[in-house]
Amino acid sequence: MKDLLSITDLTPARIHSILALGLDLKRDPAKYRDAMRDRTLVMLFEKPSLRTRVSFEAGTTQMGGHAIYYDLGTSPLGKGKESPEDTARVLSRYADVIMARLFEHGTIVALARHATVPVINGLTNDEHPTQILADLMTILERKGRLQGLTLSYVGDGLNNVTHSLMLAAAKVGMNVRVGCPDDPAYRPDPAVVRRTALCAGKSGSAVEITAGPAAAVKGADVVYTDSWMSYHIPEEQMAGRKARFAPFQVNAALMKRARRGAIFMHCLPAVRGCEVTDEVIDGPQSVVFDEAENRLHIHKAIMLHLLREQAGA
Ligand code: CP
Ligand code: NVA
Repeated sequence: MKDLLSITDLTPARIHSILALGLDLKRDPAKYRDAMRDRTLVMLFEKPSLRTRVSFEAGTTQMGGHAIYYDLGTSPLGKGKESPEDTARVLSRYADVIMARLFEHGTIVALARHATVPVINGLTNDEHPTQILADLMTILERKGRLQGLTLSYVGDGLNNVTHSLMLAAAKVGMNVRVGCPDDPAYRPDPAVVRRTALCAGKSGSAVEITAGPAAAVKGADVVYTDSWMSYHIPEEQMAGRKARFAPFQVNAALMKRARRGAIFMHCLPAVRGCEVTDEVIDGPQSVVFDEAENRLHIHKAIMLHLLREQAGA
């Protein structure tokens, strides 16, 4: 495994070993103080970011390495003057790891194919794998296990976070329910649903897509939502999407349908009053800031895992 572009790249065993490394990095960061000494991470961004950018950069510093932030808008690639292939070849001569947050998933696939160093997907329109590894780490910390739990996602189903969550949950044996409007514009990508069903068949878990928010969260151990207006969604869709997703808002009444002791998760940034209310995101069941913190630990684990693989260790 050279790159992390999709949850599909990961076997269940690899997911568990990255989670174990993330937990160890959190427990004893000093042990890894020099793990990236003389190593450089290049971070390519086409979209905004708080968590992904800062946690990758801080994580690299904490392990003795150096991170370069590169706004693709100022690059020959972003100006349409250079191909992803040549960009990847050149960056591989300077840096040890590339992390990229892009619109088109195909662009990161092209970068990875031509880079000789590991490429990490820091979010594309289709997937957000680094987020979901941090989420699994957070669930493991809170619940002590993953297998057999039920994770319910409500809101925008045709969404990078939803796709990666579905695939990852099914791989580790969690039941997945997605509550979203019954419309191809808001349901998960059918190809992802098929891949999730295959993974669930292997792990013995179940997948369900439903248009009923209450049915989606009934008896859930984890309730998860995300923005209705992802970075790539045009502003003019806002009013229509708000109306369509309103029944899927995570509020106190919806949380009551979940299992007692259920946790609430959100990758952030959150639009309070839209996909989630203040009382839920600030309430006792919310783990969103631990979840955000775990991005730091898991990103360090992902980089070390890929660098070790690269070194044949
Ligand atoms: N959750 C997440 O990826 O946040 P940013 O967009 O701030 O990086
Ligand atoms: N689905 C969201 C996730 C943000 C971290 C987006 O793509 O904007």
